[in-house]
Amino acid sequence: MSNRANYEAFYRRSITDREGFWREQAALIDWHQPFDSVLDYNRPPFAKWFVNGLTNICYNAIDRHLAARGEQAAVIWVSTEVDRVEEISYRQLYQRVNAMASLLVEMGITKGDRVLIYLPMIPEAIIAMYACTRIGAVHSVVFGGFASGALASRIDDAAPKLIITADAGMRGGKVTDYKSLLRDGLAAITVEAPKVLVINRHLTTTPCPLPGEVDFAEAVVRHVGKEVPPVWVESSHPSYILYTSGTTGRPKGVQRDTGGYAVAMRASMRHIYGVEPGDVMFTGSDVGWVVGHSYIVYAPLLTGATTILYEGLPIRPDPGVWWSLVAKYHAKCMFTSPTAIRLLKKTGVEWIRKYDLSCLRTLFLAGEPLDKETHRWVSEALHGSVVDNYWQTETGWPILTNFAGLGLLDLKFGSPTVPAYGYETLLMDEHTGEKVGANAKGSLMIKPPLPPGCMTTVWGDDARFVETYFSRFKELYYATFDYAMVDDDGYYFIMGRDDDVINVAGHRLGTREVEEALCTHPSVAEAAAVGIKDDLKGQEIEAFVVLMSNVVPPSEDELKNVVVRQIGGIAKPKFLHIVTALPKTRSGKVIRRAILAIAEGRDPGDLPTIEDAKTLDIIRDAVHLR
Ligand code: PRX
Repeated sequence: MSNRANYEAFYRRSITDREGFWREQAALIDWHQPFDSVLDYNRPPFAKWFVNGLTNICYNAIDRHLAARGEQAAVIWVSTEVDRVEEISYRQLYQRVNAMASLLVEMGITKGDRVLIYLPMIPEAIIAMYACTRIGAVHSVVFGGFASGALASRIDDAAPKLIITADAGMRGGKVTDYKSLLRDGLAAITVEAPKVLVINRHLTTTPCPLPGEVDFAEAVVRHVGKEVPPVWVESSHPSYILYTSGTTGRPKGVQRDTGGYAVAMRASMRHIYGVEPGDVMFTGSDVGWVVGHSYIVYAPLLTGATTILYEGLPIRPDPGVWWSLVAKYHAKCMFTSPTAIRLLKKTGVEWIRKYDLSCLRTLFLAGEPLDKETHRWVSEALHGSVVDNYWQTETGWPILTNFAGLGLLDLKFGSPTVPAYGYETLLMDEHTGEKVGANAKGSLMIKPPLPPGCMTTVWGDDARFVETYFSRFKELYYATFDYAMVDDDGYYFIMGRDDDVINVAGHRLGTREVEEALCTHPSVAEAAAVGIKDDLKGQEIEAFVVLMSNVVPPSEDELKNVVVRQIGGIAKPKFLHIVTALPKTRSGKVIRRAILAIAEGRDPGDLPTIEDAKTLDIIRDAVHLR
């Protein structure tokens, strides 16, 4: 059978015999108690997978492999920031996770409690995540690049009992003081203050004691050698919350289950990524993003593979560092973002050619559009297959992809190929709500139930889950908020977001978040942020700010830094202009589309509802000055 026919049969079965298909996939993990039925879909769009099955993710990712691969490396930590390498075998990981789990239990953490993890790329980040899932606690990892405002809103929403943090992280040789960011975040919360557990790396010279903090190294000593039995949880028990941005300023807590996620992760390694027990996978991302959760932390270990955890930049000490890791540790599969590859492309192909990369079977890229040029360049440089895969924090694993495991389909540059098994995708006309045919643009929708591994609800807010994702058209379909097109061969092309989400270097940010951060400055009356095209990062942020009357104008840098302090460096606007007015509709809504068009040098077109067309000139003049 050709790869295409094989894929089609596999895909069709996942839709027409959904329960039979996923029953088979569920055998890829261990169940403490078998499930009664594969799917409960009595309350659309809420899907419960593997009903009444009991399992544990940590058990499946660690304990299960001890007999056959206890001495195999589970995690290889490489830090070019502090010049260290640590290989942690499955047995050592088991011991370290148990010790931390035992400490968490002593600190009063039990099943269902939330634990916020705010850590750099160190082994303790992975250990903390597994210590939580071992005891049924729900982790909420906050990306280390986020600052105090982002932390505070996530603490308020998840109400964690405990925060696990470090004194500091390092990026490009520069120290980021995590504890002072956390202190500022804690000062702004409205919920009860959580306990704080600190992993001290001795990187910062400015001590910042937090009230009641516990030093991890001191506290864990009493727990070394202890074993904590895995807490068997229902398949639908939440494993974690991961916040992501949307149209509104308030980030949404994407909630994931346990059984469905474990099955989806292991299955995706087999069919999509082509990774099996004993293989090595290197994912150049951050544990604070969904790609890190799924393909640094969970999927590789659920598979019995080795994961590489890299702390540092891809171009430091030199632009060959990632390829050197692939070659040295024989990575079979690598995964990163298009931005990282565009960055490496600028430094020249010789950095790739320097290494014997024959071990590398496939490079996967996701998180933002992969332009044809970069796709072609990296495929030629590697003499190998480079797979563009499209998905979201919400889904946890690819919606559209090619398949290293099942057998690669013909590649088309610019296309993330075809729907993954389990996803019934369709395109709908955004105005009429009718299905669109081949070669026409539409909103990419998924017919529910969403497959295992996808978000099960918005944390603490079922209504918001339905309103946000399932209320686009009259049918109860899941909205991805991306435009797409399908060609005559069934290949998909993603054409950008259809909401106000900006994607900077694969980092998803809401325009509203940036605007709200700017408005915390006492001199700012209102603000508009747009994502303008950028050759390296895909998009960059350009912001326009209107000041209160009679204030001394702050400098542009001061305003940019407000965003950095509130959200983090990833959200820093590239350009910021102080203007006297913003283009608005007669009902008072800022017309971001018009601002974006002008900022990108395009004609904003007809704007029949604009209140004052002169505001367009104000934006034009500001943009001319950059
Ligand atoms: O707009 C799409 C874009 O990134 C969004 C999801 O971002 P996030 O929640 O951070 O999850 C990233 C998981 C890989 C999508 O709605 N996006 C992601 N992958 C692609 C993409 N756009 C085009 N091509 C892709 N391969």
